[in-house]
Amino acid sequence: MSTPTLSAPTTLRHARILGLGGYRPERVVTNEEILQFIESSDEWIRQRSGIVTRRFARDDESVVDMAEAASRQALDRAGLEPGQVDAVLMATVTHPLQTPAAAPILAHRLGIEDPAAMDLSAACAGYCYAISLANDMVRAGTADTVLVVGVEKLSDFTDKHDRGSAFIFGDGAGAAVVGVSDRPGIGPTVWGSLGDRADAITQRESWTDLRSEMEAEGREAGIAWPAFVMQGQTVFRWAVFSMAPVAQQAVEAAGITPADLAAFVPHQANMRITDAMVKALDLPPHVPVARDIAQTGNTSAASIPLAMSRMLDEGEAPHGGLALQIGFGAGLVYAAQVVEMP
Ligand SMILES: CC(C)(COP(=O)(O)OP(=O)(O)OC[C@H]1O[C@@H](n2cnc3c(N)ncnc32)[C@H](O)[C@@H]1OP(=O)(O)O)[C@@H](O)C(=O)NCCC(=O)NCCS
Repeated sequence: MSTPTLSAPTTLRHARILGLGGYRPERVVTNEEILQFIESSDEWIRQRSGIVTRRFARDDESVVDMAEAASRQALDRAGLEPGQVDAVLMATVTHPLQTPAAAPILAHRLGIEDPAAMDLSAACAGYCYAISLANDMVRAGTADTVLVVGVEKLSDFTDKHDRGSAFIFGDGAGAAVVGVSDRPGIGPTVWGSLGDRADAITQRESWTDLRSEMEAEGREAGIAWPAFVMQGQTVFRWAVFSMAPVAQQAVEAAGITPADLAAFVPHQANMRITDAMVKALDLPPHVPVARDIAQTGNTSAASIPLAMSRMLDEGEAPHGGLALQIGFGAGLVYAAQVVEMP
């Protein structure tokens, strides 16, 4: 008996971002507030990172709450109802439950019935990873409309006494609706990972190590919360030297030149990393560059959609223009692609 041939789509469709949304928590946290816990100065933080303020979520505000607000805005701007979404990809490393994932909970909150839904752990590259997957899903016909969310509540996983990281991180959510298009709206993704550098940004210890400590020392022993720690200089050097070539490759893979770009939206890790990339890429001066880090801090998976939303909202970047976006962070992982802005 011969094996039957499975049915599979033979033609690819085009996909693009139909709508973008963002959510920043209400509470603005100044450098002065951060300085209550670390030996540093407002001037040092501004000069070395470019950060002036960041936002922290309320204690009772979750990644799902923030994701819901950003998603509703993205759907509204795409002119779609939640019921039209058939897959939800949520990029986050700060959903505080090992399981269930945040994506099905978000989908239920939004009233999306029975979608494919999962979380994706790729830190500051998570949003670009998810955009790549959503693009492929729509192109191949696995889904018609994919809700992509990048969301973090980093304040839950930051050690406010660690001067190497306390001033960097913030909270927020960004969302994109990816759907069927009459033209290519998401270019090829250039991505990769370097697991040998896994210790460059990491949770201080694993949950199972924490459990062992609690069992050995008892609950009252003052055991430290496993916050995120990073080797700032290692990450900084890697980003500055290795990420511009990746961004360049994404531009080439899209079949355009830097002069065709209407925006450059790198992950908002550090203003000096952004400056170094702009210089290395030799971006034409007419290309506006996202600098949302000054007001929003580093929000990991949320930083690119938040920064792009701000540029569109403030008229700094044109709707329909091409943007180069690149995410990079803990893993180490990275991903870059050119997208048509909605
Ligand atoms: C964290 C970061 C801003 C630190 O800046 P840096 O210029 O690399 O600083 P260094 O670690 O080299 O430290 C330089 C000096 O400042 C001091 N310093 C470090 N943190 C400080 C702080 N918060 N305030 C004041 N001084 C500080 C150091 O002790 C060192 O002093 P020394 O020269 O006397 O030894 C930078 O490394 C960075 O942004 N890295 C990337 C982080 C990132 O993007 N992470 C998210 C994942 S994408």
